[in-house]
Amino acid sequence: MTEARLVVRGDSRTFRLALGESILEAAMAQDLALDHACGGVCACSTCHVKITTGKQCFSEPSEDELDQLDEARDVGLDSRLGCQARLERLPPNGVVEIAIPQWNVNAVREGGH
Ligand code: FES
Repeated sequence: MTEARLVVRGDSRTFRLALGESILEAAMAQDLALDHACGGVCACSTCHVKITTGKQCFSEPSEDELDQLDEARDVGLDSRLGCQARLERLPPNGVVEIAIPQWNVNAVREGGH
């Protein structure tokens, strides 16, 4: 198996996240609304997600990512940029779970920034 099941809190659909793939890449490929104002080059913070299960399976955040996260709203210890967090290891139960901050969900519904 080379992919995990990606659960998005509050979304009943089932998504897939392949090894090596970023959360944003998976979102774009599967019609999951995740804002990405800079196109995924770590130059905004609109792709902010919280990895609530399986955080240890993802790539370590770079200094650039941490700097961008400083600009995001509602940041916590489980916060990552969806365009930078890549799945590096499969979780033991095959499932990773994320939450998209509510203000971010609203931004997408309203058509972005
Ligand atoms: S899309 Fe801009 S930092 Fe991720």
